[in-house]
Amino acid sequence: MSVLVTGGAGFIGSHTAVELLEAGREIVILDNFSNSKPEAIEAIKKITGKDFKFYEIDYTNKKELEKIFEENKIDSVMNFAGYKAVGESVAKPIEYYTNNVSGALVLLDTMRKYGVKKFIFSSSATVYGDPEVVPITENCKIGGTTNPYGTSKLFIEQILQDLYKSDNTWDIAILRYFNPVGAHSTGLIGEEPQGIPNNLMPYISRVAAGILKELSVFGNDYNTPDGTGIRDYIHVVDLAKGHIKALEKLEKESKGLYIYNLGTGTGYSVLDMVKAFEKATGQNVPYKITERRPGDIATCYADPTKAKNELNWTAELGIEEMCRDSWNFIQAKSKGEM
Ligand code: UFG
Repeated sequence: MSVLVTGGAGFIGSHTAVELLEAGREIVILDNFSNSKPEAIEAIKKITGKDFKFYEIDYTNKKELEKIFEENKIDSVMNFAGYKAVGESVAKPIEYYTNNVSGALVLLDTMRKYGVKKFIFSSSATVYGDPEVVPITENCKIGGTTNPYGTSKLFIEQILQDLYKSDNTWDIAILRYFNPVGAHSTGLIGEEPQGIPNNLMPYISRVAAGILKELSVFGNDYNTPDGTGIRDYIHVVDLAKGHIKALEKLEKESKGLYIYNLGTGTGYSVLDMVKAFEKATGQNVPYKITERRPGDIATCYADPTKAKNELNWTAELGIEEMCRDSWNFIQAKSKGEM
């Protein structure tokens, strides 16, 4: 029996594929390389020394998706095939809703047709909007998303709730990620945003590598100790391991829909991250303070207790490993490209 990993060549999908293979699971990956590269598939094989079937398809194409279910014994699905750039989603709402929401519907409909009812969904802390309290528990209010990307996550969560209500033989885990960073310690897979990165860690590592001149710190007048925004950064390998734990939970429990925050529970400011990166890598990260970025919130970090109690999962890697591995990846990548 295999786990179908949609978007398995992407940042979180590829790391989860590695963890699944290392846990002795059989997997099938699909990806259309819209925001990833074929090299990631080779890298997963190289890291794990294991083989798997790969399909280059678009998961919104039902006919092609059905072929995968016809040709393989799939018994669970992890969905990493979503678009994820906040700013781009504002400019391209139709593309975002089509890929994320219609894509999830096509996938769920196909799963239902083939009697596959274990589903792990990549949601985001963005569904909490501007949180009323921190740390954020799974019981905190959701809603108030400010862009189509975030709203697409909210819609899919609602679809999953409705689906489970209509048929409680589904096993569903909704995982709300905080801020995934870092890369695999081999330097073979990591985050490769197209163009100039929007997210903090890829931006910092490119400044340190001399690819970008300086970091713009978006505002230092937030109500936080140093005035810059606070987030819960989580190493992508820890995040990937959370998916394996969630799958084990779905396999051993009777049917249910479960929601978990995947974060460390610790918040770091933008300036904390700059300092931590400099300390972990010995590189300089020049920065300047600029205006706030529209849509940003001051503080967001998880209460990860529920995942600890119910999944026996806790993030193990700290800020130093997150910085070291991001740096390691960008260096390996620039060497490869020269
Ligand atoms: N920041 C800067 N300069 C930069 C980039 C970011 O100062 O060049 C700051 C931001 O203002 C924020 C922090 O760094 O305070 C983190 O910003 P990111 O863009 O890395 O992450 P966000 O918290 O804004 O967004 C992330 C994910 C989204 C998700 C959101 C909420 O990228 O997918 O968390 O869960 F929706």
